[in-house]
Amino acid sequence: MNDINLKKTVKQPIIIDNYLSEIEIDIQREELIKGLIAEPKYISSKYFYDKKGSEIFEKITKLDEYYPTGTEKSILTDNAESIVKDFRQTTIIELGSGDSSKISIILNSLSNLQLESATYIPFDVSKTAIEKSISDLSEKFPVLKIRGIAADFMRRLHLIPKIEHKVISFFGSTIGNLNRRNALEFMKKIGTIMNSGDMFLLGIDMVKDIKILEDAYNDNLKITAAFNKNILNVVNKNLKTDFNADLFEHYAFYNTQKSRIEMHLKAISDMQISSPFLTEKVRFKKHESIHTENSHKFTNENILEFAKYAGLKITAVFKDSNNWFSLIQFTK
Ligand code: SAH
Ligand code: TRP
Repeated sequence: MNDINLKKTVKQPIIIDNYLSEIEIDIQREELIKGLIAEPKYISSKYFYDKKGSEIFEKITKLDEYYPTGTEKSILTDNAESIVKDFRQTTIIELGSGDSSKISIILNSLSNLQLESATYIPFDVSKTAIEKSISDLSEKFPVLKIRGIAADFMRRLHLIPKIEHKVISFFGSTIGNLNRRNALEFMKKIGTIMNSGDMFLLGIDMVKDIKILEDAYNDNLKITAAFNKNILNVVNKNLKTDFNADLFEHYAFYNTQKSRIEMHLKAISDMQISSPFLTEKVRFKKHESIHTENSHKFTNENILEFAKYAGLKITAVFKDSNNWFSLIQFTK
């Protein structure tokens, strides 16, 4: 009896290779300062995901208006068997992994044999998100080997192990949060780190009716607004600034020309922000905004362009019945 209880409570140690060093913190400060003194002002969207930000994001994924998560999960559920059929001693690396719910759909469809020989590597800039994901997965899939990588995927894709039988996944249309140049550069890098026979799974949100798009980023419960404003708390921690998030309004709209949702934080009055890392105060005029996020929406032409840039072959494009979201399977 005791033995069984003991077995149940013994957990795998959480192993995370951490590349978010002190140097990284200096780089982050520089990056944040650069954005705040720019015209127009901006903050990179990777700063959304502190512990609180990751928790709020999980709430977003459950909102009625936020269709991408549910849609991508249904595509994964419908096609998981076909995706995993050739997995043998596979190492699955999930970029921008966040919570474990999407990869669980893939892991659930693996046979015991496949699961025992698999390794899962969540790769995210949020160490707390990786910790939670590893803890959830090691409970659900005790035989699975897991090792996390805490790093920035724009700068450190080379950390992905160069082994055979890799599956790299990048869900949630996070590629849409990069600007066009970075997205194409990212694809190119993915192409170079893949071996022949490896798989890349990319989830992207498609261009669609503007109302559906804008509602997804302007939910009634104002959870997305809270998520957007929380980035100021992250900046406050990082730069020791004195932003008051209540003095900013969430502003999200679809930019048709650029095929993207833009998110901004609009100052409701004139104000000045100071930081020990800044020689001068950051001044805001009433209605001036900080650009915090782009979420690009894609077309079938973009899918072909991604493949071309990466030098990869498209082996399948899985879609939902509305064509709202696409899950693309590439090989080299
Ligand atoms: N894949 C999940 C989470 C998407 S949210 C889903 O589909 O629901 C985006 C995730 O990417 C967050 O967990 C965030 O911490 C991570 N992320 C954002 N920018 C990153 C970067 N530059 N490097 C590594 N991870 C990043
Ligand atoms: N990749 C997600 C997207 O572009 C990230 C996201 C969803 C997001 N909702 C958000 C980012 C709200 C910032 C604010 O849809």
